[in-house]
Amino acid sequence: KNTSLPEDLDAYFESHLLPSDAALEAADHRSQQAGLVPHAVSPLQGAFLQILAKAVSARRILEIGTLGGYSTIWLARALPADGTLVSLEISQANRAVALQNILDAGLSHLVDIRLGAAADLLQAMIASGEPSYDFIFIDADKRSNPIYWESALKLSHKGTLIIVDNVVRNGAILDDKTTDPDVIGVQDLLDLMSKSTGITATALQTVGSKGHDGFAIAMVD
Ligand code: DHB
Ligand code: MG
Repeated sequence: KNTSLPEDLDAYFESHLLPSDAALEAADHRSQQAGLVPHAVSPLQGAFLQILAKAVSARRILEIGTLGGYSTIWLARALPADGTLVSLEISQANRAVALQNILDAGLSHLVDIRLGAAADLLQAMIASGEPSYDFIFIDADKRSNPIYWESALKLSHKGTLIIVDNVVRNGAILDDKTTDPDVIGVQDLLDLMSKSTGITATALQTVGSKGHDGFAIAMVD
């Protein structure tokens, strides 16, 4: 198999920094077997998210886009024993895979995977006055990033860390003539972020086993 330098480096860092982990490997395998799209974060990215969640001592984590629960496992492991992770997933089939992966990882007591369109679920969460979250990971359909961002701000408090996956898409977001609604969703997100007051924000490009992509990262001041 031909591998690229970034992929070889991911393998090198994984072999040195990440212990082999049966639950994460099983989750990856089950997701593949179930035919889920291969869009989970990489192992090194999962560890990065877990470190960030620990760094803010997150007790309540919100994830928008569960897929097979791979990042969910990384994030739930950042929580204290009485913590909570709410993850939103539109696909019944994806949710079923994720539930099994989280059960096998021994994390079911911490994780609540809610089925539905995230925009609707978020609106209901805001309307019902649900407590705010310490860490929010946005990683669902990219065209809805603007509504996810606005909702995340409403579910935040001072010190909440908001991470958005896939804001580079191999550079596609620089195409100002694009008609791809997912690219437009990222562009509109960045426009919204540029107009948001009361945040400190950055973006980090990533290379590795998931190609050239990146995270937008914002802390609520
Ligand atoms: C896509 C979505 C993701 O969340 C990701 O990490 C990579 C790609 C996509 O929709 O193409
Ligand atoms: Mg993603």
